[in-house]
Amino acid sequence: MCGIVGYAGGRPALGIVLDGLRRLEYRGYDSAGVAVACDGELLTEKKAGKLANLEKVLSERAAEDPTACGASPIGIGDGTTGIGHTRWATHGGPTDRNAHPHLSPDGRVAVIHNGIIENFAKLRAELEDEGVQFASDTDTECAAHLIAKALAELRAAGQPDGPQLLAAAMRVVCQRLEGAFTLLAVDAAVPGAVVGARRNSPLVVGRGNGENYLASDVAAFIEHTRDAVELGQDQIVLITADSIEITDFAGQPASGKDFHIDWDSSAAEKGGYDWFMLKEIAEQPEAVADTLLGRLTESGEIMLDEVRLSDQDLRDVDKVFIVACGTSYHAGMVAKYAIEHWTRIPCEVELASEFRYRDPVLDRSTLIVVISQSGETMDTLMALRHAKDQKARVLAICNTNGSTIPRESDAVLYTHSGPEIAVASTKAFLTQLVACYLIGLHLAQVRGVKYADEVAAVVEQLHQVPEKLRELLGRIEPVRELARELRSEPTVLFIGRHVGYPVALEGALKLKELAYMHAEGFAAGELKHGPISLIDQGTPVICVVPSPIGRGLLHDKVVSNIQEVRARGARTIVIAEEGDQSVVRYADHLIYVPRTPTLLAPLVTTVPLQVFAAEIAAARGHDVDQPRNLAKSVTVE
Ligand code: F6R
Repeated sequence: MCGIVGYAGGRPALGIVLDGLRRLEYRGYDSAGVAVACDGELLTEKKAGKLANLEKVLSERAAEDPTACGASPIGIGDGTTGIGHTRWATHGGPTDRNAHPHLSPDGRVAVIHNGIIENFAKLRAELEDEGVQFASDTDTECAAHLIAKALAELRAAGQPDGPQLLAAAMRVVCQRLEGAFTLLAVDAAVPGAVVGARRNSPLVVGRGNGENYLASDVAAFIEHTRDAVELGQDQIVLITADSIEITDFAGQPASGKDFHIDWDSSAAEKGGYDWFMLKEIAEQPEAVADTLLGRLTESGEIMLDEVRLSDQDLRDVDKVFIVACGTSYHAGMVAKYAIEHWTRIPCEVELASEFRYRDPVLDRSTLIVVISQSGETMDTLMALRHAKDQKARVLAICNTNGSTIPRESDAVLYTHSGPEIAVASTKAFLTQLVACYLIGLHLAQVRGVKYADEVAAVVEQLHQVPEKLRELLGRIEPVRELARELRSEPTVLFIGRHVGYPVALEGALKLKELAYMHAEGFAAGELKHGPISLIDQGTPVICVVPSPIGRGLLHDKVVSNIQEVRARGARTIVIAEEGDQSVVRYADHLIYVPRTPTLLAPLVTTVPLQVFAAEIAAARGHDVDQPRNLAKSVTVE
């Protein structure tokens, strides 16, 4: 978490950095800050809360002193080198003093950071022994002091001032840091240069014309350039207006991986919707279609994006673990049903944050499927590394090109669903489901359990989903009305069976995270073992009903569960397949979804739950895109 932007070029840096931060605010919004090098001075401003608070302070500062360092309209100067940060707090509360940038004691070096410096207590004690006074409670401030100290020592040793000196100081400091970090630094004495470092945390370079960028995510600079360089692990990058130099932490020249960004800046704008989340819900038909695009070869095989696994490797698999967090974990729960059904290989689903601590039994014939929208979730990354240490093979499902998780995996299937800005996962979830189905089919085919025509038949059913989603979204208004009606309820419960169970969990998670309401999802059959006592007169229970076609028993069991909760006073909101008349008499509210085969049904049954949660959150006056205490990309364990 935390969003980081750096700019070195010929234009005033401040506006560019602020625009970049706006696009990265989804990564954390506990505070924001900027530092701009201008006329041998460093101008900084930082403020707790959302970026708007920082912008307000900058405007007030401009009003007080419109001529401060140059002609910039907001008075922080027209310096052409700058860095900016938007924070998700880890060490130190979300206050002004803990906001980044953090400065060296003379105020000439500014540092911003994403990640956690694990040995910061030791480093801080050492610096305090040397007489350094700390101005914050953060781990980051250690890095600012250490860089200032390294600069002073390198200068004293006769190294000339200039960009290379800044890079050398960063190298010295990185060798002392433990943990996960992306660091950017600017030095008032070295105008025109920004230095960055990366270990276990994202950092990409934007290659411009007479200007270059650094950021946690390409969204920060996409309106200026679509040519980017992905940095490797433990690399230092130095940008000036016309150069990008990459080394390892020891100073040896290194190279990044060039890539072209294939979506444009409009994909990261709200496009007329009140919230990014609503736009992203509406984009789901296209997102699903994009995930499916070009996946079947002429010979009817599923194509992954990057495969460093042979068919023989996949044939040798005797156990699958799916490892993920939050909504991605729910996608994994659905995948278990499909993978076991299609491949007959045992498949377990694990929360990434639990996986490595319980010492799972893994070996070369275990396939780990990690699912992560961001590709940077630390819990998932650590689970992946643990699996690789045990010689298991790892296949990633990811939406973010070039992020750490796909880079460290043996094979990757990208979901290609475009940037997801709202913190709550919507189109990422649906496209993760599609990717899971494709992987299940691929495994089944490679292992000879399914023939090309069977795979093609399921892929054809998947191709019909975008149209079904369009139709469903076109008649979603009653769900919004219902959400507004239920906005003051203290509790909403969700029930489902089979793949409807993870859908129930996902519906409850969305409501909790966006509306801050008590919401719980249950396997419908478990209600009678305890949770049914939660049901009171009028308690809303959202019931996800499977198709009556094919799996009649499963359907009938859920209908019985609806009757059970209704008999105890629940207000039932039933999500059922179009044409299912059997539920009409038990539903206080009925939401029909298009007919879809049972295993693929979560692709349609989840959508009303997303809309429901977003609408209740808006009706309760919450920020739908940036719920409190959360961040889009969780890069701490
Ligand atoms: C909830 C949500 C989170 C993420 C989780 C994993 O709406 O978005 O639960 O699904 O933090 O994130 P990724 O998929 O980026 O690893």
